[in-house]
Amino acid sequence: MCMLCFSWRNCMKRLILVATAAASMVMALPASAQFKKPEDAVHYRKAAFTLMSAHFGRIGAMVKGTVPFDAKAAAANADVVSAVATLPWSAFGEGTGVGRSEAKPEVWSQPDKFKAGADKMVEAVGKLNAAAKSGNLDQLKVAFGETAKTCKGCHEAFKKD
Ligand code: HEC
Repeated sequence: MCMLCFSWRNCMKRLILVATAAASMVMALPASAQFKKPEDAVHYRKAAFTLMSAHFGRIGAMVKGTVPFDAKAAAANADVVSAVATLPWSAFGEGTGVGRSEAKPEVWSQPDKFKAGADKMVEAVGKLNAAAKSGNLDQLKVAFGETAKTCKGCHEAFKKD
């Protein structure tokens, strides 16, 4: 839970608002104007992946049964994953494979393949969100597995170990 709010639900709402606001800002700005330094882009995309992964992982724990299934929590987590899923991609501009980045050079030498991988993930996350909203654990399991495949597929091709 974050320190700014009093309940987990409020916290989720706030996160979603922030992420949604960030997403609309990203869409309104030309890619080149977003980051002062290449390192800032690396930091931004890592932060987005970390956030996305944390909330995806909370759904994963329910899918795997390590925590009890809670339909409301799953739906709230899926909302965060959906909002954040659109964010990392604009931070992969030319010349940002620097510093602490674990991105392989293929991100920039095979941009169409990389973009296709991102689109696939965003699409899978849309289905994950729908499954979470359905409140049906079996549907959620399937959608979680399909989404996880898109993470793994891209990491194998484009992320260093
Ligand atoms: C289209 C490609 C692609 C997809 C799809 C993708 N990732 Fe990644 N991911 C990357 C790349 C590239 C990096 C390395 C970024 C860097 O270090 O510059 C990365 C880094 C990460 C990191 C490390 C962040 C850090 O702090 O270093 C996590 C965690 C992560 N991804 C989780 C996920 C999850 C979870 C999914 C699926 C829901 C996912 N990724 C889908 C390409 C992808």
